[in-house]
Amino acid sequence: MNDFAIAPSILAADFARLGEEVDNVLAAGADIVHFDVMDNHYVPNLTIGPLVCDALRNHGVTAPIDVHLMVKPVDRIIPDFAKAGASYITFHPEASEHVDRSLGLIKEQGCKTGLVFNPATPLSHLEYVLDKVDMILLMSVNPGFGGQSFIPQTLQKLQVARKMIDESGHDIRLEVDGGIKADNIREVAAAGADTFVSGSGIFGSANNKDPNQYDSIIKQMRDELAKV
Ligand code: DX5
Ligand code: ZN
Repeated sequence: MNDFAIAPSILAADFARLGEEVDNVLAAGADIVHFDVMDNHYVPNLTIGPLVCDALRNHGVTAPIDVHLMVKPVDRIIPDFAKAGASYITFHPEASEHVDRSLGLIKEQGCKTGLVFNPATPLSHLEYVLDKVDMILLMSVNPGFGGQSFIPQTLQKLQVARKMIDESGHDIRLEVDGGIKADNIREVAAAGADTFVSGSGIFGSANNKDPNQYDSIIKQMRDELAKV
């Protein structure tokens, strides 16, 4: 994996052609498949579950799959996603009664762990579990929908999270999710992020799915990142 990783959110892909969409975006140079799981309970939307993750693996996808759980409760579904081929499983601390236990469960199942922070959620949840976390995901929108605008306060939060990671000496990725496009990825990277989720920024609008556009958008993002 490159130092900077681009993680297209398949939430904005054409679900009727999901395998092909994921192949195209990976062929265009994406590093990670970001997989948004919503339950119409923790967030007001409903998306995809382990079956779809399994289907992507059976289709031949070998890239890391980054499962972002926006579900409550969390623990019941962790083993199912591990079996379905998830690489990372991240969850929101508010959605688990026992954050340390959920992190342990993800590890036991052989996956990498991550905690996700909503715009208003403090990073203090990390204080006693930083050594058990492989990824910190900062939401730069409120979770539940693609296509929202980047919340600028995330930049300052990224700087704080970057400092925590560097001071800990642990190998932890710092991911950001929501409203990331080629025109703001550079300042987000400069604030400390190394992993960039982008849904509508890469896949574009619902009726404009031109795989050639994925090459040029991902290249534009890489060019911006090269300037950091
Ligand atoms: C929002 C999801 C995001 C979403 C990002 O709850 O977690 O991953 O797909 O979409 P864009 O990049 O369009 O903001
Ligand atoms: Zn997400």
